[in-house]
Amino acid sequence: MTTPRSESAAPANTPRTRAKARHILDNYYIGPARDEAVLEIWGYTPRFTYAPGDTVALHVSTTAAAWDLEIGRDGADYHQVLRETGLRGTYQPTPADCSVKGCDWAVSYEFTIPDDWQEGGYLLTLTAERGGDRVEEHHLILVRRAPDLPAAPYLLVCATGTWLAYNCWGGSNHYQGITGPEGNEFAPVVSTQRPWTRGFCKLPEGAPRAVPETPHVPGGMVRYPYMEWAYAYGYSKKYASSGWASYERHFARWAEMQGYELDFATQHDLEADPDLLSRHKCAIFVGHDEYWSANMRHAVDRFTENGGRVARFAGNFLWQTRIEDEGRAQVCYKYNAAQDPLLGTDQEHLTTAAWEVAPVNWPGTKTFGANGLQGMYTGFGRCAGQGSGGYTVYRPQHWAFEGAQLGYGDQLGAMSRIFGYEVDGVDYRMEDGLPYATGSDGADPQMQILALGLATNIEPDHGVWGETIYIGDGDVVFKAEAMHGEVTPETIDRSARGNGVIVHWQRGQGEVFNAATCEWVMGLTRRDWQVERVTRNVLDRFRA
Ligand SMILES: [Fe+2]
Repeated sequence: MTTPRSESAAPANTPRTRAKARHILDNYYIGPARDEAVLEIWGYTPRFTYAPGDTVALHVSTTAAAWDLEIGRDGADYHQVLRETGLRGTYQPTPADCSVKGCDWAVSYEFTIPDDWQEGGYLLTLTAERGGDRVEEHHLILVRRAPDLPAAPYLLVCATGTWLAYNCWGGSNHYQGITGPEGNEFAPVVSTQRPWTRGFCKLPEGAPRAVPETPHVPGGMVRYPYMEWAYAYGYSKKYASSGWASYERHFARWAEMQGYELDFATQHDLEADPDLLSRHKCAIFVGHDEYWSANMRHAVDRFTENGGRVARFAGNFLWQTRIEDEGRAQVCYKYNAAQDPLLGTDQEHLTTAAWEVAPVNWPGTKTFGANGLQGMYTGFGRCAGQGSGGYTVYRPQHWAFEGAQLGYGDQLGAMSRIFGYEVDGVDYRMEDGLPYATGSDGADPQMQILALGLATNIEPDHGVWGETIYIGDGDVVFKAEAMHGEVTPETIDRSARGNGVIVHWQRGQGEVFNAATCEWVMGLTRRDWQVERVTRNVLDRFRA
């Protein structure tokens, strides 16, 4: 059975934010209309992950008198597992600071997960009708394998730190927002107790990716097709940056079709249960995992040191977060780390800044071999927008490339556009035509760089008439200040250059394979057999 599709488009976003966003690059957010005349329905659950036997409490607010609920497993196929119609609708006021403190809605519907629900992502479809109008919104929960069953060899750890960071529902996330005295600042604290923004749980087939399907054509204005699409169809401006629908879902479906046995968890589960990984042979991270807490990182490091295998098909390892309020709040001051209350205390190593920056001083390369500050944008707007979309192969004889028919200098994944939109890099030197980690950024010089591509922190302005620069120089200024202590033409220049790398690293008793790019999953969904072959080589070896 395929997912039923709604014919009528849901309201684009809140009428107020829509009216203010006059350009696709302007900030707008998805959230409650706070107007009972507007037909809407939204819902959330207090937790991300449940196991059979757990009770799920669904908190729903709707302006309709009744609503329907469908739950289905979003695996290789979609199949419905629960349907309720005619549930009584309640309109629940939403606090202005809901993004920061949560919605505080009452429970609307509860159910217990039956023993026969297979592990996976479960899509919740909420619909409501009134006067001929119909709205449809979505929520997602992850269901873990029942604890009395043998553990699956692989654990897919969903990047909920980044889902939260980009979730614009209610006004604020870690990027933009309605927080602060002027109501125009991003929120350094975001709540899990609110709905996911539109496009995080379900997307129509063909929704544009952050990396366009073809390289930028010189001469024309640069475009951001996904933001144009989001603006036109009423989806979150951040839908292509994060969420189940854009990233983890692609991997989960492919893996299931290939016969890999996955269990499911979130980064937040690593925070709550530090030994979670030890029950599995291989931990898998996919998509965009920019935000991690120290405890999440420690869980991965301990696992690897003790013989665990880490397969990371994800990019943009950048910010330290803190998880507070028993998992309900995520803290990340980022560019405003000077305001973090832990600064100047004996806990200041937990300051929510970039990993490489004082007083954190825990380079991302120590866990994954590459990091966000050495990488950044590629295939995105004018940031290396005329690149091939693939990785250049340097060590084709490595076991990860076996059977992939790749030679020195070949492009891996150019057809499927896997290289972007954010990648992690490493400081390297070239010798005899091969890249080697210098170790200057904390990377282990023994680590092997298998493939490499270029990235940049600055979006060049070629003065093309009609073009609007999106990334500009904001990130490069931050990196110059963070890495070199001052912003000068020289430090800007040094900070502008980055790269993305595929690395393999024996670490302790275990090992790490890091593809270090957000878009790797497109190689799987677009059936790029070389990308699929590399993925299978890694997963098959890491099961042993
Ligand atoms: Fe990012």
